Amino acid sequence: MRFLTKKPAQTEANNAILFMFEDVDSRSEFFNYLNELSDGKLEEQVFKFKATKRNFCEIFKIAINENLRVFIVGLGKKEKLTRRKFSQAASSAARAVKANLQGDSIAVELIDNLEECNSVLANFNKAQCAQILVCALRIGLYEFSRYISTKKPSIETLELICDDITPQIELAAQIGVYTSYAMKFAKDLINEPAQIVTPEYVANLALNIAKEYNLEIKVYNKNEIADMKMNAFLAVSQGSVNEPKFVHLIYKPKNKTPRKKVALIGKGITFDAGGMNIKPASSMLTMKSDMSGAATVLGIIQAISKLEPDIELHVISALCENMTSGSAYKQGDILIASNSKSIEVDNTDAEGRLTLADALCYADKLGVDEVIDIATLTGAVIVSLGNDITGVMGNNQKQIDKFIEISKESCENTWQMPIFDELKDNLKSDIADFKNTGGRNAGTSTAAWFLSNFTKSNAWMHLDIAGTAYLDKSNKETLSGPTGVMIRTLINYLLN
Ligand code: BES
Ligand code: MN
Ligand code: ZN
Repeated sequence: MRFLTKKPAQTEANNAILFMFEDVDSRSEFFNYLNELSDGKLEEQVFKFKATKRNFCEIFKIAINENLRVFIVGLGKKEKLTRRKFSQAASSAARAVKANLQGDSIAVELIDNLEECNSVLANFNKAQCAQILVCALRIGLYEFSRYISTKKPSIETLELICDDITPQIELAAQIGVYTSYAMKFAKDLINEPAQIVTPEYVANLALNIAKEYNLEIKVYNKNEIADMKMNAFLAVSQGSVNEPKFVHLIYKPKNKTPRKKVALIGKGITFDAGGMNIKPASSMLTMKSDMSGAATVLGIIQAISKLEPDIELHVISALCENMTSGSAYKQGDILIASNSKSIEVDNTDAEGRLTLADALCYADKLGVDEVIDIATLTGAVIVSLGNDITGVMGNNQKQIDKFIEISKESCENTWQMPIFDELKDNLKSDIADFKNTGGRNAGTSTAAWFLSNFTKSNAWMHLDIAGTAYLDKSNKETLSGPTGVMIRTLINYLLN
């Protein structure tokens, strides 16, 4: 897909998207331009006949001529708009264009002037609007059609329309382009079935990324993982014929000393059958997506390599399958992780935290300022927060506050879950330092408490994306399937 910035009169697109509030009768430059093209038909339909109420996400389609259709997207009441809602409206519009596609290009107007909105969240300028829009439109247009034999036409060009194109707008659009590419990359990898996406496949992909983006990389095989004493990670992997891989990619700024160093760890279970505590069929159905964390961090490092901020970024993933077999690890097994702490296996389906434990210990040795892990970790986070909100936990409130603020600016929902020290009673073991599960209660928090024992960082943050990484049902922004959640937030967080 190509992205261009243009003035209203320069557009050559077959589809135009205009945003309009329910309670403000304003006419943008692009509206006026299209209205002239239509001999006043737009003005007549929208304001005289009131053919659209401009309710939130309501879409009104009007054909200007054979080659041009206009989609008016309702933004609802001005004071109720947030960035997330704006992104939902834009993505809905893109889906409407795609639903019955004519031509192969979309022109979409950049809006601003939202200062009167009550919510600071809606106060974006045209540059910020461009960044949001590029991502939102690509979310709306996304499809994974590789295995579908009837090929459909697709959108090739996206034009961002405004009268006063500035370097800031161009730059923000670029950030949006690389962010949306990272999302597409992650979603494609998550969609790809586990019969293809094995630990070795992901490791090879990481090697290709390293080559293409000129990054340092280390890929450890099973023997090397054993040499590093990552016995918790190894135990999870031992039930599969596909051997584990441990991947570590490094981005360093060119000729600059980094202003901060961050390690990003992504959970990389390429299939989670549950191990000997096997999952029921309905829960196992989407478990190819249990490597969403790994896909996320691999997407992000590509965007960061293009955007070249003056930070050092370490991307880490412990990749394996969690299977049942004669060689699988068992309930009651005692595992000594690489920081020498012992874990009694209470449930083999709580495997993510075991692999993350060794990855967190590894990150401790890199001398980074911050460690962030992202994982489809607990079913409990779905019970608590549903499918639209990512759980955030950690040991540094400043870091968490900043992250949550940036998530709002990035059109994503996050909510902090607590880690109290009392939780350790839930994971108490009689014969080891702790068990790997804390029972039914507070499952998201007990998982986080478990992880906290494997990091020495005083700026460690944990994102539980079990509810948000993969959707069974479409929501206003994203169709069912992988979402690429937290990529926008994490990229903005790293650039900030
Ligand atoms: N990968 C799952 C968590 C998950 C559940 C992700 C649903 C996406 C959707 C994780 O490995 C798991 O099985 N967690 C268990 C932990 C339990 C045994 C303590 C869970 O949440 O049921
Ligand atoms: Mn599991
Ligand atoms: Zn899992």
